[in-house]
Amino acid sequence: MKLETHAQGLKGTITVPGDKSISHRSIMFGAIAHGRTEVSDILRGEDVISTINAFRAMGVEIEDDGDKIIIEGRGFEGLKAPQTPLDMGNSGTTTRLISGILAGRPFDSELFGDDSLSKRPMDRVAQPLRQMGAKIKGQTARDLPPLKISGTQQLKEIDYKLPVASAQVKSALIFAALQTDKKSVSRIVEKEKTRNHTEDMLLQFGGELAISGKNILVPGGQELRGQKVSVPGDISSAAFWLVAGLIVPNSEIELRNVGINETRTGILDVIEMMQGQVVVLSEDKVNKSASLVVRTSQLVGCEISGQLIPRLIDELPIIALLATQAAGETIIKDAEELRLKETDRIAVVTDILQAMGAEITPTSDGMIIRGKTPLHATKVNTQGDHRIGMMAAIAALLVNDDEMILERSEAIKTSYPEFFTDMESLLK
Ligand code: S3P
Repeated sequence: MKLETHAQGLKGTITVPGDKSISHRSIMFGAIAHGRTEVSDILRGEDVISTINAFRAMGVEIEDDGDKIIIEGRGFEGLKAPQTPLDMGNSGTTTRLISGILAGRPFDSELFGDDSLSKRPMDRVAQPLRQMGAKIKGQTARDLPPLKISGTQQLKEIDYKLPVASAQVKSALIFAALQTDKKSVSRIVEKEKTRNHTEDMLLQFGGELAISGKNILVPGGQELRGQKVSVPGDISSAAFWLVAGLIVPNSEIELRNVGINETRTGILDVIEMMQGQVVVLSEDKVNKSASLVVRTSQLVGCEISGQLIPRLIDELPIIALLATQAAGETIIKDAEELRLKETDRIAVVTDILQAMGAEITPTSDGMIIRGKTPLHATKVNTQGDHRIGMMAAIAALLVNDDEMILERSEAIKTSYPEFFTDMESLLK
């Protein structure tokens, strides 16, 4: 598709789509709880649809009344053996989290996905789940999908220190730990604190866990109760408009109902370090959401590393673009996990921004970006990665020399089906 270029200013208000991480978890908790769960403002993106379809294939009644999603849960034991392999599409979150649920079910299942998912390592969940007693077999030593899982009702508790900072692995182990014996307690120790939506939602559904620093204790044999869940907007989707608002001249954008759980707000800390103007309004402490107002700003480079990385991991492609417009140098390090996302995001981001004229150097665990570079038109390809597509579409807004073409733009539907409609509304 042809992208909008030469933007004169972005103005208006946007309600960003529901948080992808919370949307996945709302379906999963609804399916394993007893009773009815009603989810409002869920993200109807392709990744979440993969999760919904997987649980439907295991006999869970899930209805979309156009407004809410209604799930009739019958507990873990209500899940039935799927008749065909489960299609995970592009969704690493579905694959990894569902593995923790399937590990404790007394049936065989197979998980497969698209080309991108078929290159993503599942050994990070397979290995600890095997320790708990599940049989899991993937392709190569890294357990790439397709993944065959033979679960067991005799899962053993685990005491496990995560070798990577990953909310997906942590969540898979929490789901498995819930299915161990009533008297057992699993201990999961995080490498760095990562998004805590699984922990929050477990408590909301009437479950139990204890958190102390990076240690999470999860008792086995838990029974959960269906709930009403209201999904806040995804800060990882809002991030594209935050950056667009900062770098496109004459812009002022209000983003409504954005989730601001502190395990996710690393981008706001970076914007502050870069001296960008974002105001947080009407904070809702219960729902952990707020409105954010962003204005065009003069930015300075900064260093992004350490504990900050898991709090903005999905925002690094768009933050790299932001850094191309800041004065001085921005250094991103400790982000080697970026190489294992929907694409190798260090390689793909640097290739695209270099092709547009930016001064950006890849490193083994990040990027070094020298700012204040004008961007030029070129033809780019999402390579099937939604966040790469949205980053390129925002970069195009700064281009004014020629046509900018985006190939495989349909990937954006993974997490933000209304992305281009929202962009149109800001350009009017
Ligand atoms: C997610 C965790 C992160 C993130 C992904 C969603 C989640 O992945 O990048 O988009 O919902 O738990 P990792 O667990 O691999 O860091």
